[in-house]
Amino acid sequence: MENTKKLVVYFTYTNNTKKIAEKIKAKLNCDILEIKPVKPYDTDYDTVVRLEQNNETAKKTPDIQSINVDFSKYDEIILGTPVWWYTIAPVIRTFLKQNDLSGKKIVPFATNGGWIGRTFQEIKELCPNSNIENEMNIVFEGSDMQTPEKEVENWINSL
Ligand SMILES: Cc1cc2nc3c(=O)[nH]c(=O)nc-3n(C[C@H](O)[C@H](O)[C@H](O)COP(=O)(O)O)c2cc1C
Repeated sequence: MENTKKLVVYFTYTNNTKKIAEKIKAKLNCDILEIKPVKPYDTDYDTVVRLEQNNETAKKTPDIQSINVDFSKYDEIILGTPVWWYTIAPVIRTFLKQNDLSGKKIVPFATNGGWIGRTFQEIKELCPNSNIENEMNIVFEGSDMQTPEKEVENWINSL
């Protein structure tokens, strides 16, 4: 669809997801929204890994900073999350619970260290009335992208 209005929505802690989100924005020349927690995560990586260990079962929904976006303007949400303990990052869970994306197309992408777990499944559960398509798993080792650049480019070109 030529005139589909697209919005990139993402959360990032160590900037991998941000890098991909920015690439998408640059390619599509679309709007972008970063979801941020009200209470920032600890700057120490291992502390965050430890404190969020129960993410899959606790399903925390930390408060997020207020969003000044009219979602009715957009037909498609390109949704980026790092994988945190086998599923979506908690602030993305908050975002999906607080905003009704029914009827929209959602294209999810996840950056992770190779264990994607239930990430896309949880997005589907939280957005039962959205059309979830064309999901992309992008693997990083630290800040080095392991998924071939070409594969990521092809996916971005398909958006
Ligand atoms: C709290 C926490 C939990 C994580 N859990 C997983 C996991 O379950 N599977 C995985 O492959 N990577 C896991 N990672 C690694 C991140 O998903 C990966 O580094 C991601 O690209 C980080 O994205 P970001 O730089 O946008 O924050 C975890 C990282 C953190 C901080």
